[in-house]
Amino acid sequence: MELLIEKDSAAVAVRAADIITEFIPEQPTLGLATGSTPVETYRELIQRYESGEISFAGCRAFLLDEYVGLPHEHVQSYYQTIRRDFTRAIDIADEDVHSPNGAADDLARAAADYEAAIEEAGGVDVQILGIGTNGHIGFNEPGSSLSSLTRKKALHPQTVQDNARFFAEGEEVPRQAITQGLGTIMRARRILLLATGAKKAPAVAALAEGPVSAFCPASVLQWHRYATIIVDEAAAGELKNIEYYRFAAANR
Ligand code: GLP
Repeated sequence: MELLIEKDSAAVAVRAADIITEFIPEQPTLGLATGSTPVETYRELIQRYESGEISFAGCRAFLLDEYVGLPHEHVQSYYQTIRRDFTRAIDIADEDVHSPNGAADDLARAAADYEAAIEEAGGVDVQILGIGTNGHIGFNEPGSSLSSLTRKKALHPQTVQDNARFFAEGEEVPRQAITQGLGTIMRARRILLLATGAKKAPAVAALAEGPVSAFCPASVLQWHRYATIIVDEAAAGELKNIEYYRFAAANR
């Protein structure tokens, strides 16, 4: 696992965009995360696209997760969010941006279909991840099987609370999602996990330096062959081995 510590969230976004840019000539299948953290990276990639530096033609994208019960049209569905934050501003065909169908009658079927679609596409080449304050990735909450596949999960009350800011007052915040499993995420060839701000510092420390445990789902990345964790100084605040990470980054 590689840990890169950048000055601030803007520098995290540039670093992440640099790595994704390296993949572009291969027309990669991108694994996209929603949440606020990757938005700056998406903006950076949009700028590079607009300046003619990169093109996403031929790329495909798979989202990590989707709320259960929200139709595609809902402004807070991840289907809409990723289009608003990223894909509608770049040259990726809309039908090539995939997400689980959280509004399906048969959610188990929708989850299995999504897992199969990722496999049929040849898997994800580069997966972008954020991290929840409790160490979740996608919507794999603490206790998730480390080898889980795409399925319906109940959100943790803390996650419901964290996400309430995106919903109108009085509107019900979804309590369930369809999410790629930890086993699904682990199949991605390259993983980039981004974390910014002091609120994420305990989760980052647990992910990188704690035991591999379902209690911190992101810690499964310690088993991944090519995971890069990019954090700002605030999110790095609780790392014990920080001197080594800085040294290793300077001597890559
Ligand atoms: C949600 C998403 C995760 C995301 C997390 C953190 O729970 N399902 O993919 O990583 O939020 O979001 P933020 O980046 O806004 O802190």
